[in-house]
Amino acid sequence: MSKFIINGPIKLSGEIDVKGAKNAALKIIPASILSKEKIIITNLPKIEDVKKSLDLLAYLGAKIEKRDEKTVEINPKNINQAELNPELAKKFRASVMFVGPLLARFGEVKFPHPGGCVIGAGGRPIDVFLEGFSALGAEIDAGENYYRLRAKKLTGAKFFFTKLISVTATESIMMTACLARGKTVLENCAMEPEIKSLADYLNAQGAKIKGAGTPTMEIEGVKKISAGSFAIMPDRLETGSFAIMAAATKSKIKINNCIPEHIRVLLEIFKKIGVRFEKGKNFLKIFPTKNIKPYNIKTHEYPGFPTDLQPPYTVLMTQAEGQTLVHETIFDRRLLFADSLAQMGANITVCDPHRLLVNGPTKLYGKKLTSPDLRAGIALIIAALGAFGQTEISNIEQIERGYENIVGRLKKLGADIQKIK
Ligand code: EPZ
Repeated sequence: MSKFIINGPIKLSGEIDVKGAKNAALKIIPASILSKEKIIITNLPKIEDVKKSLDLLAYLGAKIEKRDEKTVEINPKNINQAELNPELAKKFRASVMFVGPLLARFGEVKFPHPGGCVIGAGGRPIDVFLEGFSALGAEIDAGENYYRLRAKKLTGAKFFFTKLISVTATESIMMTACLARGKTVLENCAMEPEIKSLADYLNAQGAKIKGAGTPTMEIEGVKKISAGSFAIMPDRLETGSFAIMAAATKSKIKINNCIPEHIRVLLEIFKKIGVRFEKGKNFLKIFPTKNIKPYNIKTHEYPGFPTDLQPPYTVLMTQAEGQTLVHETIFDRRLLFADSLAQMGANITVCDPHRLLVNGPTKLYGKKLTSPDLRAGIALIIAALGAFGQTEISNIEQIERGYENIVGRLKKLGADIQKIK
């Protein structure tokens, strides 16, 4: 098992480029199944989950050509089966994104219960997906550890996301409805920027999706969707993680190739807590701030405070002058990293599985830690950069599956970080 060794405290400086959004890439790759024509995807992040998604697509019969480090050409014409390889599919949660497009194209699909990181109730349930697919006319046969969906013909329907707002379920039902017969109305949809970006692409290829990025979508089914080129948007969660990293280490850094508008809620909070920044259309400059004020957050679907920035923000609040209440409403088990922070010296009280109290400012000290999930991992890196002494973080595969070349990029900012086997 590899691990990161980080020595602190250290001030960062310089510039960092944001990569393509993982959570956009993991949807456009399976979306290529909706068409029989070639798609070119650019600005792909070089991360494990993208590799797994492309491997799964190749397993189904698509021809994939790497044009360069960040560009692939996919020819989905010869996809000849609708059964997800369990070994491949169980390795990452986003394999669930293949289900809708396969159902729409072949009228049936067989897949294992998706795997992935530990956050989320009961191993990341997919009940909302299944409700949506059955609303479109699919029959669901649940086996011991697989599901088979069949739909002689998918028919547009009115569907309200009653249980909760789900990003990937919204994207999945949206994609499937594109090829259903007739009109679908989806209500209480997620509004993340990646959803609108996917819908805009599909509309450019002949789909008829209205209202993506708002709570209600109307989708007219079409017979065929063509394909073109899709540029993956900058990763707003990388942008937010690096902005918080700068604030927490009182560093001056410039973040390039980003869309500050996509992390508006964090920037509004920065104004309230005293973190100085300057933003342009595609860059964000963070300036060192002496005193940071506490500010309570409650995670919420977009455009609210993203759950994926909650762990980094919690680390920042260990340096704020006062008490902060952090309320994680989206995922269970997303406060697991709190005891690692406490081991480093943070004054943290976990009130219940969804709420914690942080009192600051506290000095943090290097410790041997394990990263429970992707975003907790980057949070522990942020804590280690500002901590006194050496920190060792294991289970870093979780971090590398979402942050391309994180060691190289942080070294460029002056961080003292090594990866050791
Ligand atoms: C997407 O996950 C992102 N992943 C997550 O990013 C992100 O944290 C999350 O949205 C919330 O913004 C991708 O886009 C690949 P949800 P998703 O469905 O869609 C429950 C990261 O670190 N739920 O919006 O899986 C679920 O357990 C990842 O990049 C059901 O109960 O999240 C969670 O508690 C982590 N039944 C809540 O809904 C379902 O059928 C919201 O999850 C589906 C979800």
